[in-house]
Parts: sequence; structure tokens; C-alpha cells
Amino acid sequence: MLNYIIFGPPGAGKGTQAKKLAAKLNLTHISTGALLREEVSRATEIGQRVQEVMARGELVDDEIVDSLIKDKIQNGHEAGFIFDGYPRTINQARNLDVLLAAKALPLTLNLEVSADELAKRLALRGLESGRSDDNEATIKNRLLAYARQTEPLLDFYADHKRLISVAGEGTMDDVYQRLEKEVS
Ligand code: AP5
Repeated sequence: MLNYIIFGPPGAGKGTQAKKLAAKLNLTHISTGALLREEVSRATEIGQRVQEVMARGELVDDEIVDSLIKDKIQNGHEAGFIFDGYPRTINQARNLDVLLAAKALPLTLNLEVSADELAKRLALRGLESGRSDDNEATIKNRLLAYARQTEPLLDFYADHKRLISVAGEGTMDDVYQRLEKEVS
């Protein structure tokens, strides 16, 4: 079994690259952002609980996200997973290690992108696709949440010798080729 985390700030290209890597490696792609947006659009109990938190650009409670992940891991196929947008807190990282301990601990692929490039990508997507959290105030909060709660995980994975950082700028194909080298 192979498990990867595709890691990086909002707009780093996690979703873009995770889809391609999952197809290449025949892994199950799990995006917690996409799972949560689906709950919101179906107006489920979880969706109603998380809607405002997501609209503010803050992190949803660990307990909610951990339960979605547990369910997906139990129902995923044995080749392995690419986690996109998860984990985002130290508690989530520990939870994931517990869930995968008997299988294969995940390797983290970290996309490095400058703050200016992130702001440009997210503002552009806000104009084009209209994702509701791609507005100026929410983007600011998402980047802050990343810096405060998620970026410290880089030390956690570096300490566990499970961190590979890759330049996340250039064309999408450039970035993919860099990642491909790391996973082949
Ligand atoms: P989530 O959906 O995970 O959003 P995010 O981390 O803010 O990431 P994005 O989807 O904006 O960016 P990305 O890195 O995937 O880049 P993408 O490929 O899309 O989370 C949304 C919310 O859900 C959170 O704010 C939180 O509230 C909640 N949530 C989710 N997971 C959670 C968790 N674990 N715990 C708690 N709360 C959680 O690319 C971005 C744009 O750039 C696209 O338009 C793309 O086309 C473009 N692009 C990509 N690569 C390139 C490139 N090389 N050059 C130019 N443009 C590029």
C-alpha cells in the first residue's frame, strides 16, 4: 500500500496535482475540502454545521473532518490514498498516523509557492469559477489559518523523515513532472 499527503497553502495546486498523481498511481484521491463542500451543497447536518466556518475561511473542527476521513479510508481500495487538504492540524496528523499505522504511514509532498503567486491564483479562480471562499477577506483568513495551524506540520513530518518539498511554481505540467520524479 502507498499513501501520500499532498500538502501546501491554499492555492498551492494540491487538488490539481493530487488528481493527476492519483490517476498515475491508481490511488484513491481524498479531498476534505471537496467532501465538506458536498456536505454543504446537500445541506446535511454536517454541511449546516460547517458552512459558516468555511465561508469565514477558518478550519472545521477536527472531530468532523476525522470522521469523514475514517469513513473514506475504511471504504477505499487497498492500493492506497492521496490525501489533499488533510491533515491540517497536529491532531489530524496524529489521527491519520493511527488510522494508517497497520498499513503504510503517509509520505508528505509539500508544494512550495510564494505568497504573491497564491494570492494571484486564488483571486483568478474567484473570478472564473466563483468558489465562494475565493474572495479577498476569506482568502486572507485561509492563508492565516494555514500559517498558524497547518504550516507547523512541516516540522512534524520533517522530524519523522516523511517530508519531501517540491517547487510548486511554473506550469502545472512542470510541477507534475517534479512530483512524478519523487513518487517513481
Ligand atoms: P480546501 O478545499 O482544501 O481548500 P484550500 O486548501 O484552500 O485549497 P485550494 O483548493 O484553494 O487550493 P489547492 O492547493 O487545492 O490548489 P488548486 O489545485 O485548487 O479547503 C476549503 C475549506 O474547507 C478550508 O478553508 C476549511 O474551512 C475546510 N477544510 C478542508 N479540509 C479541512 C481540514 N482537514 N480541517 C479543517 N478544515 C478543513 O489550485 C488553485 C488554483 O490555482 C486553481 O485555479 C488552479 O487551476 C490554479 N493552479 C494550480 N496549479 C497552478 C500552476 N502551476 N500555475 C498556475 N495556476 C495553477
